[in-house]
Amino acid sequence: MTDSTTRRLALQHNRRLAVAPMLDWTDRHCRYLLRLISRHTLLYTEMIATGALIHGDPERFLRYDPSEHPVALQLGGSDPRDLADCARMAEDWGYDEINLNVGCPSDRVQNGRFGACLMAEPELVAECVAAMRAVVRVPVTVKHRIGIDDRDSYAELVEFVGHLSRAGCDAIIVHARKAWLKGLNPNENRDIPPLNYEVVRALKRDFPSLPIVINGGITTLDAALAFLNAFDGVMIGRAAYHNPWLLAEADRRVFGDAHPLPSRLEVLESFIHYAERELAAGVPLSAMSRHLLGLFHGQPGARAWRRRISEQLHRPGVGVEILGFGDGAHP
Ligand SMILES: Cc1cc2nc3c(=O)[nH]c(=O)nc-3n(C[C@H](O)[C@H](O)[C@H](O)COP(=O)(O)O)c2cc1C
Repeated sequence: MTDSTTRRLALQHNRRLAVAPMLDWTDRHCRYLLRLISRHTLLYTEMIATGALIHGDPERFLRYDPSEHPVALQLGGSDPRDLADCARMAEDWGYDEINLNVGCPSDRVQNGRFGACLMAEPELVAECVAAMRAVVRVPVTVKHRIGIDDRDSYAELVEFVGHLSRAGCDAIIVHARKAWLKGLNPNENRDIPPLNYEVVRALKRDFPSLPIVINGGITTLDAALAFLNAFDGVMIGRAAYHNPWLLAEADRRVFGDAHPLPSRLEVLESFIHYAERELAAGVPLSAMSRHLLGLFHGQPGARAWRRRISEQLHRPGVGVEILGFGDGAHP
């Protein structure tokens, strides 16, 4: 068995369920919360542009809590040398995977010549993957769409994935809809082009040994488990952010680890301890509390709790006590 086969086999388990990279959402505070709910779900950072790491303050973008493992760093960029430098930096920081964003359609990202527009440049993406692959031991993966604009034939997708596979890409995460680079904003590009899971199924048939993770429109653990019959992993984005408790059963049902589950209130209590430490270190409370608001999603009393937090958040001198259920009227 080659090293790379061992590595792939070892990683299958981790990959079965992931929470998607989401700009402005999956920051380290959000990931800390998600990790309190599931020990095994793979977590992704927000996309970090290579320029921010090379010319900015790497610590600001790369620091994370050790409890967040397994955690993957998503990079945005298209210069193989820069990406290799950033991948090395990320590995030094202990990230478990480096992922390249080839799915974001925003104008800003297109102007920087990265994100989804790179689907039109398979050779360049392959060069980027190979450059990162050459300098790190952790897996290098790519998250992409099923096409862009008029470049949306299955033959073009196969050509793209073939390039990635030959370049040593360890897994692909496919957001099962195309992106329109002109005319739709990123938000619209997450809903308007229709989902097409069949195309991703076909990819799995044509690349049976390449780990393929499916993404897009998956909102329950039951749906995720059904997809696991066909794919190596499932990535959930918005649903996991708005209702993080959907991950509560993931360790048992997806990863086969039947440890006792904490309750929502225990998770809240642990997060409050964390927020207290971070607040003392100068992090604004609102930067943490905003990720908490989905924790009691659908529970009675949740709306009043959320309202109370929002109302009190900006009063001078408030502390973490506003995050709790001080009056005992918890859901
Ligand atoms: C607020 C927000 C920010 C996002 N930022 C990123 C990003 O930084 N990188 C990326 O690859 N995808 C990003 N996405 C797309 C998600 O990773 C995912 O592909 C998409 O939401 C579809 O999955 P879902 O239907 O499970 O949400 C973002 C999505 C949202 C809602």
